Amino acid sequence: MAGRQLISEWLDVITAELHEAAERPRREAELILMAYLQRDQLWLITHPDETIKDDHRLREWIQRRKAHEPLEYIMNSVSFYSQTFHIEPGALIPRPETELLIDEVLSCVDKEAEITLVEIGVGSGAISIILAQHLLHARIIASDISEDALKVAHKNIVEFGLEDRIELRQGDLLEMIDEKIDLLVSNPPYIALDADLERNLDYEPSLALFGGEVGDEVIRRLLDEVKARKIKCFACEMGYDQKAKVERYLQINENSSLKFYKDLAGFDRGFVLKG
Ligand SMILES: C[S@@+](CC[C@H](N)C(=O)[O-])C[C@H]1O[C@@H](n2cnc3c(N)ncnc32)[C@H](O)[C@@H]1O
Repeated sequence: MAGRQLISEWLDVITAELHEAAERPRREAELILMAYLQRDQLWLITHPDETIKDDHRLREWIQRRKAHEPLEYIMNSVSFYSQTFHIEPGALIPRPETELLIDEVLSCVDKEAEITLVEIGVGSGAISIILAQHLLHARIIASDISEDALKVAHKNIVEFGLEDRIELRQGDLLEMIDEKIDLLVSNPPYIALDADLERNLDYEPSLALFGGEVGDEVIRRLLDEVKARKIKCFACEMGYDQKAKVERYLQINENSSLKFYKDLAGFDRGFVLKG
């Protein structure tokens, strides 16, 4: 990669470099150049003959991506529910399938109600932020065990001007929450410790990924809390193979309803439990 290459040449070079690490190397090459040059796609396409003079950081980004680091961590930015959030290692990169968890919550709640909503495992803050934008009268308490994740959540909450709507707390599941909870939401870690994972997941915090030896340990602890605290509504993401385990663990009683939902690929992805 010699200095002062044309944008069109950089696109080809980056595409070739990312051939192994990226599923869509050309698209990622475009995204990298757009972020690096702070330009949109139209500008990029219409300026193939511009040269990039100072390419030091660009080379570093390419090397990081070649080593399978997720693009979102490299660019410190992630798109979720049509909005852009700050992201950095220490917090899980919010996934598109988690947008469905938000849709499930929004479809089962009275948007005008003054409820206390608790999110466990807030990570980057994306779920709580979107919910705060839609549920204008909800009081939101969001908790995480990880200080690094809470720092990212705090940065995003400030960025979105929601400091007075979302209260962050650090603790193990609900240990720091004594309030009566109307709605509990969580995308907990649910992968089994010995699962075979893609290389890019090496960069994400283990605390955010692994639920325990079997995988559903955190979900089961949350279900115990829901029962003990008589929480009326619990919306939770889970692994594609955990539906039967959740059903078995719950052995639902007559007054409760349990609804599972699928992701866009047709896999079981979560449930809403109402008491
Ligand atoms: C799968 S990530 C979800 C992050 C974010 N809510 C999202 O959907 O992108 C799970 C989060 O749960 C947190 N976590 C793991 N174990 C926890 C525990 N025992 N108590 C509280 N939070 C925990 C992790 O630090 C991580 O931020």
